[in-house]
Amino acid sequence: MRTQIIGTGFVTGEHLVKNEDLAKLMDTSDAWIRERSGIEQRYYVEAGTATSDLGLGAAEKAIADAGIDKGEIDYIVFATMTPDHYFPGCGGLLQHKLGLKTIPALDIRQQCTGFIYGLQICDALVRSKVARTVLLVGAEVHSGFMPWTQWDHLFGREGPAPTAGEKDWNSKFRDRTVLFGDAAGAVVLQAGEGESGLLGFKLHSDGSDFKSLYVPSGGFASRPYVSDTDFKAGRHIPEMDGRAVFKMAVKRMPEVVREVCGESGYGVEQIDLLIAHQANLRICEVVQRSLGLADEKVFNNIQRYGNTTAATIPIALDEARKAGRVKQGALVCFVGLGAGFHWGAALLRA
Ligand code: UT7
Repeated sequence: MRTQIIGTGFVTGEHLVKNEDLAKLMDTSDAWIRERSGIEQRYYVEAGTATSDLGLGAAEKAIADAGIDKGEIDYIVFATMTPDHYFPGCGGLLQHKLGLKTIPALDIRQQCTGFIYGLQICDALVRSKVARTVLLVGAEVHSGFMPWTQWDHLFGREGPAPTAGEKDWNSKFRDRTVLFGDAAGAVVLQAGEGESGLLGFKLHSDGSDFKSLYVPSGGFASRPYVSDTDFKAGRHIPEMDGRAVFKMAVKRMPEVVREVCGESGYGVEQIDLLIAHQANLRICEVVQRSLGLADEKVFNNIQRYGNTTAATIPIALDEARKAGRVKQGALVCFVGLGAGFHWGAALLRA
């Protein structure tokens, strides 16, 4: 018996924002963003739409795709680093929004590796028979992190353009803000007979270098945990040493793909489709080259969505399935690395 993915789905924020639109708010350009990251556009939600709302949309699509009654879901695992509230987490909010019985709902926060960690938890829940039908959601509303206030201007509505001072402030964070988008992806998992299903996992964590990507304020290492001083200094916005994260990703991701393949009894060359966390197309390209995989064995879509953290892998899986790129019996490998740092890989027989 193996844990199978029986349905997938995703939604994005409702506002499509192209690179050149961001140049209205800060000193950046389409050429810079494309060259450094491969990103061409991303989506942002309208103010008031929260991560659990996007999670709901993705969950409904995955449930419909699975062809099950939503009442069959008996466990929710929700991965996000941008929860609606400091507490409670999004899992319980989603249980309520879906109108489910009082089933268990677990929140996990492994950032860009959240979906892979979530898959391992779901696999354990299903194979231990703790749960029969699990809903796994990866969802993010990153727009709350953005330093600007000129949303109407960005969305092409009537509203003030940034002043020179505001543009300078927005530009201070441009290395990070241009990368992220709002979206959610979901999968439904169930036990099934036969060859297909999750085959193996290899996960790692190392908190020693967490300051290379973290949010300085808004946590209980500070008293009070939110303050006007921190807000004015922009310490509620993620800080990132982009070069350090890039180097870590291109080392750790191929390494952990080799580990999961080796421990599960496969050669890397047997991978039919690699779905890597979509943080930067240049990272994905280095990982692909390092693993020696041909273009037809890799699926990337960051060009259209940006980095949606816990949502990138389920979105890519849904698009790859619907584009016919996940053939019956194919060996699919998921890999990711993100803040924490957490990284890992999983193998799936489609
Ligand atoms: O899921 C994990 C999340 N994070 C990541 O995966 C991030 C990994 N790192 C990266 O993707 C890259 O490091 C970035 C795309 C973030 C940055 O690319 P980079 O090649 O490392 O650029 P840099 O930060 O070294 O900046 C190079 C130049 C700087 O200007 P000067 O000092 O050379 O004059 C920056 O100020 O590019 C400038 N710059 C920008 N220019 C226009 C930084 N961001 C921008 C921008 N537009 N958005």
